Amino acid sequence: MNILLTGGAGFIGRAVAMKLLKDGHQLVILDDLSNGQEENIKEFRTELTEFIIGDIKNETLLEEIFNKYDFDICYHLGASINVQDSIDDPRTTFNNDTIGTFYIMEQCRTHQVKVVFMSTCMVYDRCIDENGITEAHPTKPASPYAGAKIAAENMVLSYFYAYGLPTVVVRPFNTYGPFQKTGGEGGVVAIFIHKKLKGEYLSIYGEGTQTRDLLYVDDCADFVVQAGYSDKVSGEILNAGLGQDVSINELAKMIVQDDSRIKHIKHIHPQSEIQKLLCNYEKAKKLLQWEPKVSLEKGISKTEEWIKETYQWK
Ligand SMILES: NC(=O)c1ccc[n+]([C@@H]2O[C@H](COP(=O)([O-])OP(=O)(O)OC[C@H]3O[C@@H](n4cnc5c(N)ncnc54)[C@H](O)[C@@H]3O)[C@@H](O)[C@H]2O)c1
Repeated sequence: MNILLTGGAGFIGRAVAMKLLKDGHQLVILDDLSNGQEENIKEFRTELTEFIIGDIKNETLLEEIFNKYDFDICYHLGASINVQDSIDDPRTTFNNDTIGTFYIMEQCRTHQVKVVFMSTCMVYDRCIDENGITEAHPTKPASPYAGAKIAAENMVLSYFYAYGLPTVVVRPFNTYGPFQKTGGEGGVVAIFIHKKLKGEYLSIYGEGTQTRDLLYVDDCADFVVQAGYSDKVSGEILNAGLGQDVSINELAKMIVQDDSRIKHIKHIHPQSEIQKLLCNYEKAKKLLQWEPKVSLEKGISKTEEWIKETYQWK
């Protein structure tokens, strides 16, 4: 198939691109490199049909790209992803995540291209059920990031209902693994491992009792790719996670194995924290035969290996 992947130079986009190429598709990546890096696609750049550095908010560019290629599917991952940034500067997140998605949808409507929209578990209200969060669980726009994604999800689904365009909304839970950034803008696993290796304290916001369901990046990419291949999921919302949550305190201990290396600091956005996130992925299992394959222990060790190899430790 001819496939467009937005955000393909980012952390998850990179893994999605590798799977799509492995499956033999013609792949175009569009990324403005606002958070992605050319380094991320170095391994497979020559296999791409085209790598376009550009913004999804540039409608003229989108028109050119969609006119040039006869796409079968658009995997739309390009977005502003940071909760804190969205609180500090909601305009950027809204413009990229909601308006940008609308521009993508308009092209997909005109050119009849199937859409896989990458949402997030951060749209959910806290988990109160031991069976975890199903797709029927209430949403809560606790941050502008969540609000912008919920708005975009609704637009994406409206194109299914109003125009019959095949669209699917995927909501992966917090994803981690190689190629995730290790600074403040990265994910908790990468940040903690990096701090451990540098001999620094692991800082936990608030009490550390908040939990996350952590999904290894290859499992996440498998899920996203499968959602695009299936005819059974049009108009659907689908979760993916490990189906097991861990508190941030437990996670820090798993990574550093030493309580004296962990400190608790004042939460910078307690009002936007989601206290418990536990994924129920039964729907994805039933419709896509998808299940996570990488345990948290294995995933952490693979991530640590990558960080060790990638950064210079002197
Ligand atoms: N990391 C997670 O835990 C997680 C979990 C669930 C969902 N998601 C979603 O998955 C997607 C990828 O996230 P990620 O963690 O790989 O983050 P990332 O920042 O590494 O990837 C996003 C990519 O989109 C690009 N981008 C941003 N704005 C753009 C624009 N206007 N035009 C073109 N490209 C643009 C960035 O340069 C980056 O390469 C996002 O939609 C995110 O919301 C992430």
